[in-house]
Amino acid sequence: MIQNNMNIAYIYSEEKWRDHIKETFSDHNLTIGTSLEEIKDQLSEVEILSVFVSHQVTKEYLDLMPNLKLIATRSTGYDHIDAVTAKEKGIQIATVPSYGENTVAEFAFALLLTLSRRVYESYKQVSETGSFEKDGLRGFDLFDKKIGIIGTGKIGLNVIKIAKGFGMDVQAYDLFPNEEEASKIGFSYVSFEELLSSSDIISIHAPYNEDTHHLINKSNITTVKPGVYIINTARGGLVETTALVNGLDAGLVAGAGLDVLEEEGYLGDELQLLEDDHPNAKELKITLSNHYLIDHPRVIITPHNAFNTEGAMRRIIDTTVNNIKSFINGQPLNTLK
Ligand code: NAI
Repeated sequence: MIQNNMNIAYIYSEEKWRDHIKETFSDHNLTIGTSLEEIKDQLSEVEILSVFVSHQVTKEYLDLMPNLKLIATRSTGYDHIDAVTAKEKGIQIATVPSYGENTVAEFAFALLLTLSRRVYESYKQVSETGSFEKDGLRGFDLFDKKIGIIGTGKIGLNVIKIAKGFGMDVQAYDLFPNEEEASKIGFSYVSFEELLSSSDIISIHAPYNEDTHHLINKSNITTVKPGVYIINTARGGLVETTALVNGLDAGLVAGAGLDVLEEEGYLGDELQLLEDDHPNAKELKITLSNHYLIDHPRVIITPHNAFNTEGAMRRIIDTTVNNIKSFINGQPLNTLK
């Protein structure tokens, strides 16, 4: 069953793909905006919505879209969407299951190498002072270090392959161990507790959900191997921000490379946080902790940028267009169960 003239809303964060989307869906009624708020008045007609991780699809917005049938998110994760309410309303969610397992894995190592070899401090020193002094810029080898990978899905396995290339000793934790890959690539599964207590470096690649909320938290941060480095390119909510602050303060955590932060949506728009109707002491505390982390000399923070390569963007857009077209043709692809 092919349907014409569907009402499609495409919320974009990047100008570049706008014309491509306009052309692709020229047979349909397309509404394009930079935020859901901007097109609020047109939401009641929307049948298909395409968003990115920075666009929060809350219950309030879902209630404004009684005709909505599909949310095509241009991402693997979908925790920016109220999936429970969407399901209750019979709205399907289509994701981009894979577009850059290598892309995000490469970025995890970009963060790790920046920390291990003090790349940022070295660059800053040379560019700001012109000094080629090496004092204070000594790093450490990755070779022979024990790296603990949380989540051995598509990205985690790529991180493991790269780690093996560096001669690292790899251990992993996953709810569903992939023993076949473990013996093929050469790594072992351990319990979560063991991973925390014995890894020199921890890299997180599990999805964010109710079960993984604050996987690393105030009670277990005290059990890490002192001097551990934590890399998070998954989702901010997997690590309790204040626990990380405590771990750094106590000298247990030597450094962190974070592409994702809790409440990252509020960073850069703190005014919005203050203007929100809801009690927001928790969000305020997290936002303050995020600022502490941003200013911390042993923490590298990037703006949820791990996915951001030309190749990955092209694959994301192609899959999303395909997800929308297949849905319109009555054969939904990549939808959540
Ligand atoms: P995947 O679904 O292939 O792998 C996730 C793995 O985590 C699976 O093996 C699963 O069994 C495991 N897992 C689930 N719950 C767990 C738990 N409680 N404890 C331990 N392991 C658990 O996902 P993929 O493609 O590897 O992506 C991982 C995450 O990376 C995504 O959920 C997404 O949030 C994040 N991501 C971040 C990006 C960025 O730009 N920073 C870009 C793409 C993904």
